[in-house]
Amino acid sequence: MRRSVLIAATAAAATLALPTLAQTPIVIKFSHVVAPDTPKGKGAQRFKELAEQRTGGKVKIELYPNSQLYKDKEELEALQLGSVQMLAPSLAKFGPLGVKEFEVFDLPFIFKDTDAFRAVTDGAVGADLFKKLEPKGIKGLAYWDNGFHIMSANKPLHNVADFKGMKMRIQSSKVLDAQMRALGAIPQVMAFSELYQALQSGVVDGTEGVASNFYTQRIFEVQKHITLSNHGHLAYAVIVNKKFWDGLPADIRTQLEGAMKDASTYANAIASTENAAALQGIKASGKSTIYMPTAAELAEWKKALMPVHKEMESRVGKATVEAVYKAAGFSAK
Ligand code: LMR
Repeated sequence: MRRSVLIAATAAAATLALPTLAQTPIVIKFSHVVAPDTPKGKGAQRFKELAEQRTGGKVKIELYPNSQLYKDKEELEALQLGSVQMLAPSLAKFGPLGVKEFEVFDLPFIFKDTDAFRAVTDGAVGADLFKKLEPKGIKGLAYWDNGFHIMSANKPLHNVADFKGMKMRIQSSKVLDAQMRALGAIPQVMAFSELYQALQSGVVDGTEGVASNFYTQRIFEVQKHITLSNHGHLAYAVIVNKKFWDGLPADIRTQLEGAMKDASTYANAIASTENAAALQGIKASGKSTIYMPTAAELAEWKKALMPVHKEMESRVGKATVEAVYKAAGFSAK
């Protein structure tokens, strides 16, 4: 008797438990290195809202900004291992993974404006580059723009000679390494999360970056001079663990793809205004001088930096460089 009561109770509990189990949401951990209040942070937040709404709560997006889970390099390893499902690293971060073609995006002055960048990522070149990630267990979902790089240091950086011997932080890209050397600086690879302290303590003298990151990481507190050189471009790839993504129920995957498409439109639309607002914030702080280089100074930077294209051609791949030139309407002038 007691045994049958127990069996009945267990069966009832199992029946009760079943619907609960079926409703357990699929969790997507989305990790990134920047602050929530940046174009990438806001794009991630928008994706979370759209994805959770459109899947009717069947998917839960957990956001981990500010390198709170992983630093730059560890992030990609964690994605490959499946410890995290979604990331949005800068395109520079794929070189160390062995997909060197992505370093084409780091070539100095390669994009004359955002439209030139979008012409590359929205077309066949962007799609072909994403295919190169698949053997690494990674699927590319979208490209997110974050505008042009500016330079900072505790001394004015107007002429190329000003870079001589300066220790400049870079992301781990051989093209960025060559770029800093071409200016006469000493490049130092460092994780984004370590940058503020490294600048504060003098481990490095300066850095390149975008205004939204300079503002939200408070780089302007430890760098007295910023030059609006726009010499390079910063963009991200929103990527997922391929096995995880391919294993999702097809209807859910379609809903998530739709959410990503709309979140990407949003993230790309806000990048330039967010960076302009961040620059205003830096100006208002009164802590950094913001310098607009003259045409002659920029011509001098270009003269020093353009040879990096040829120098890096064999690493990045001639075909990739030429395909990007063509899609972007690149001109060396
Ligand atoms: C960096 O390391 O400087 C960038 O990748 C940071 C970012 O915006 O993701």
